[in-house]
Amino acid sequence: MMNLMTSLIGLGSHLAGWRHRDAWSPTTMSLDNAIHLAKLAERGKLDMLFLADGNAVRQMDDPILFSATSRSDRPAAFEPLTLLAALSQHTTKIGLFATATTTYDEPYLLARRFASLDHLSQGRSCWNVVTGSYAGDAVNFGRSAHVPRAERYNRAREFVEVCKGLWDSWAEDAFIEDKASGRFLDPSRVQRLNHVGKHFAVQGPLNVARMPQGYPVLCTAGQSEDGRELAAEHAELMFSVAQTKAEAQAFYADVKSRMAKFGRAPDALRILPGVTLYIGRTEAEAEEQFQELQSLILPELGLAYLSRQCQMDLSGYPIDGPLPKMEGEVAGVASYRESIAAMAHAEKLSIRQTYERIVPSLGHVLFKGNPVQIADQMEDWFRGQACDGFNVDMPVVPRSLTDFVDLVVPELQKRGLFRREYAGGTLRQTMGLATPQRRIFSNPTLAAD
Ligand SMILES: Cc1cc2nc3c(=O)[nH]c(=O)nc-3n(C[C@H](O)[C@H](O)[C@H](O)COP(=O)(O)O)c2cc1C
Repeated sequence: MMNLMTSLIGLGSHLAGWRHRDAWSPTTMSLDNAIHLAKLAERGKLDMLFLADGNAVRQMDDPILFSATSRSDRPAAFEPLTLLAALSQHTTKIGLFATATTTYDEPYLLARRFASLDHLSQGRSCWNVVTGSYAGDAVNFGRSAHVPRAERYNRAREFVEVCKGLWDSWAEDAFIEDKASGRFLDPSRVQRLNHVGKHFAVQGPLNVARMPQGYPVLCTAGQSEDGRELAAEHAELMFSVAQTKAEAQAFYADVKSRMAKFGRAPDALRILPGVTLYIGRTEAEAEEQFQELQSLILPELGLAYLSRQCQMDLSGYPIDGPLPKMEGEVAGVASYRESIAAMAHAEKLSIRQTYERIVPSLGHVLFKGNPVQIADQMEDWFRGQACDGFNVDMPVVPRSLTDFVDLVVPELQKRGLFRREYAGGTLRQTMGLATPQRRIFSNPTLAAD
């Protein structure tokens, strides 16, 4: 069975999606829109609703990109756990999937927020563990430059370990609330963590009861060597930015093969590439929508967007000439620019043709067609071990999600590729993931203090 998720973002995944006549307007900071999308995605039985995140307003030094905005810039965005806490009260089954950085946060605070979300949603929380894609976040946290990748990953590894330890603070039955005896809790059913490491010293215990899922479902996004190792060790869900089926298959095989040394079975980690869907009732209708959106992109915006993805100023190169060799160190997601350059060189694309390729899907794969054609492409990747499902991106919100739920989901269900009903209450039950057992530490417990 496929795992399917979608982003909870009002702007759409085509750079001009928000300008389309069927797109919501206004969308800025709209709780009503978010509730609408959450209910719609739950009607489609999707696994999760996802919120990417960052901690800065981006692109202020590039007026073309800044004024046109793009969804990843997020000049006005809800803090993910806060919005998902609100949505937990308007949904009952769908997973609530928040991005949170390990570079600019503290494990105690974050462990507490996720444990709270898991309680509020009765077991539907999921954490996208990121080390930060945007160098500009650093200046909002007392630093002048982005933390180097190796240091970010070291901190991330310890951060996740500390969170897991804190989530193991309390046994499920610790809070007995026995009115007759006057014992509210059982002190033998809680333990301190007493963690002292390179980045953190955390005594614990956490001041939230054990969450319904034990731990939130853990996701990682980084694609580098360090990112793949982190995923193989800890992640139950991972994004892939592969641009072709062959690339996705190689990535899938590589990451899954790393899991055995951590004592993990391949199915304990689900790999979901991002895919943007252009859906029509007919092939012609899908193409018409696609061309309509393409016509809303100005060349200077396309060029500015590609320059940013490649982290290289392309404005001095002929727009109809080839994409030049990539130069310079990448501060954020190196894999995006590598994928883009590989595609442009393999297919001998000009700069203009390259941005025309990435603007409709913003770095993700693109599937276009009627519901049967879309399902065919999804099935081909899924059965070909290129993925375990998809992070489906919607070019025009809410129209594209409505089309996905009403037209494509039934086709996937008919083929036995996707659930007709949620299996249970928690996200782990929905996804068929194991619930972690509470570990007992050798450190002194509170009872022995
Ligand atoms: C698909 C994808 C989604 C990501 N989402 C976020 C995000 O929402 N916020 C963030 O700060 N970093 C995000 N990242 C950045 C990663 O956490 C990581 O910092 C970055 O990819 C660099 O590591 P890498 O070279 O291992 O890929 C994302 C990365 C990828 C590939």
